[in-house]
Formats: sequence, structure tokens, C-alpha cells
Amino acid sequence: MRKFARIIGTGSYLPPKILTNDDLSKTIDTSDKWISARTGIKQRHIVTDESACDLAKVAVNNALEMAEVNANELDLIIFATTTPDKIFPATATLLQTAIGATCPAFDLQSVCAGFIFALTTAEQYIKTGAANKILVIGSETLSRIVDWQDRTTAILFGDGAGAVVLAGSKERGILHSKLFSDGRYLSALQVDNNYINETGFIQMKGNEVFKIAVNQLSSLAEEMLKECNMSASQLDWMVPHQANIRIISAIAKRLKIPMEKVVVTLAKHGNTSAASIPLALDVAVRDGRIQRGHTLLFEGIGAGFSWGSILLEF
Ligand code: ACO
Repeated sequence: MRKFARIIGTGSYLPPKILTNDDLSKTIDTSDKWISARTGIKQRHIVTDESACDLAKVAVNNALEMAEVNANELDLIIFATTTPDKIFPATATLLQTAIGATCPAFDLQSVCAGFIFALTTAEQYIKTGAANKILVIGSETLSRIVDWQDRTTAILFGDGAGAVVLAGSKERGILHSKLFSDGRYLSALQVDNNYINETGFIQMKGNEVFKIAVNQLSSLAEEMLKECNMSASQLDWMVPHQANIRIISAIAKRLKIPMEKVVVTLAKHGNTSAASIPLALDVAVRDGRIQRGHTLLFEGIGAGFSWGSILLEF
């Protein structure tokens, strides 16, 4: 009998400080009208002195509670982040100690696609029997690498954390996943920091990122569904990376998925990179939209570029 990797708990956390579009328009030449129309973002949460590990700890405790799993039962921790607390050790090991776990723990860096890469990696451990209970986290403090004087990037990003507990199960869970990377897109999106220049900030060619995201994620969703002999109408929910409402709605339109079946948290969260999908998932699970037995499609893309998708039964 096929063994599935199944999400048995979700959790999330946003730092309390909120920065609205109106707040931003006091320091840079922008407006709520421009940001809302071009991105769908109204506000973002920003850390004061919290680290990625601090945010993750709260999200993880919520996920463990929902899963009814103790930290010492975990077999593996995978921590997706672009903004680790330190160059080393891995933030995953800081979290391991903070929650009282003893299992192996490592970081995974795939920027905004980090959660998709981490969840796909975790699934492989479960399928091979190497692990049975895995904590997968996306946690980011992107506000630390944003140039707050650059209106082309400062409007987009926010901080937050999301987590899931994945467990081996006879019940259906992850059905299919696909990952891609293409390093030729380096100049479209990067932090030009080689550890010598410590003040690296996000540099982005927004138009280029926009087109690549729409094209790659639409094609990938079509491919995923075809390979599972499914149609988009069989999806209960699409939970996409929250980058820009126009990217999300262009993908939904191409797949003929009504926006009522897309989880969108962008307006309140902004783009929280690796945290955005588990954050959106947890919001929709806790408000009752996503229920057991629902079929979900996760999709994410980020700098590199790296992108991927996961089709699962919740
Ligand atoms: N406020 C007001 N005006 C602005 C702002 C701002 N914050 N930023 C740019 N403008 C101006 C530009 O200077 C330009 O002015 P001009 O016409 O006089 O030259 C005009 O607005 C239009 O600029 P564009 O860059 O063409 O605007 P666009 O519609 O492409 O929107 C945006 C820009 C929002 C960045 C969009 O390209 C985008 O979202 N791209 C995707 C980027 C993304 O999601 N990055 C996240 C990381 S990767 C990921 O998560 C997938």
C-alpha cells in the first residue's frame, strides 16, 4: 500500500508591528492607491527585534498543538528561510533547541520557493521510511534586506512564519510535486551581497519577475494536473505564493480557476517569501475554508529562479 506524506498540523505567526501603505507613503514617493492597484497589498507586518527563529517558534508551537505531536517525537526539521538568524549555525538548530526537539535539523534556501522545496524534500524522507514526523517551516524577516528608500521593492515585502507537521500515513496526502531551477535569471532578482559587502539589499526587475512568474507557474500547474489525470475544476483550493495579486489572478484566469477558490492573504501580509504559502494555508485552515479531504495546489516561485508546485489532499 502506498505511503503518503500528510499534513497533520498547521501554524503561523505574524509580528505585531504593522506598516500600512499610508505609512510608507510618508517616507517614499508612493501611495496607497498605486500599491493597492499594482500589487493588491494594503499592509505588511514587520519585525522590531524578533528573528526568523522567534517568529518560527510561535508558528511551530501552533502547528505541533494542532497535530498533537510533541517536539521530542519529531524525526526531522527543515527550515526554509532567506533571512537566517546567523550565517551559521543553521536557524533550524536554534529552533530545535528552542522547542525542545532533538532530531536532525537543517536550513533550506530557495527564497520564495523555499517552502515548496522544503515540503518536497520532507516528502521524500517519509516515502523512503527515513522519517515519519517532520516539521517544515517557512520563516522570514525580509524587512532586514529591503532598502526602505527603494519604492520599487519596499512596498512588496513583509515578515512572518508558517509551519506544518508532516507525517507518514495510509490516508492520502501529497499526491505529486515538481521542482525547477534556472540560474540564468540571476539579474532579475538578487541580493548582491557576497558576505564582504554587508549591506546587501533586494534588487529586482519587477516586470521581468512578473512575466516569468505568470508563465512558469501557469504552465507548471497545467503539467501537474495533466500528470495526475485531473482538471483544474477538481481543485478545491489553490494556495499560491503571495507575490502580487495580478500574478495570482493571471494564473487563476489561465487555469480557469475562480478567484473564490484561491487563498489570498496578500492584502494583509504582503510578500513574506518562504513563509507566504504556509501562512496562507494556516489562515484558511483555521477559518474553516480548507477542510479535510480537500484537494489543494501549492505553487511558488522565487529568485534564482527556482519554482515548484505540490498537489495534495489535505
Ligand atoms: N509607487 C508609485 N510609483 C511607482 C512605484 C511605487 N511604489 N514603483 C514604481 N513606480 C512607478 C515607476 O517608476 C513607473 O513610472 P514611469 O511610468 O514614470 O516610468 C511606473 O510606476 C510603472 O512601473 P512598473 O515597474 O512598470 O510597474 P508594474 O506595473 O510592473 O508594477 C511591480 C511594479 C509591482 C513591482 C510589479 O512589476 C511586480 O509585482 N512584479 C513582480 C515582482 C515580485 O513579485 N517580486 C517579489 C519577489 S519574487 C516573487 O515573489 C515571485
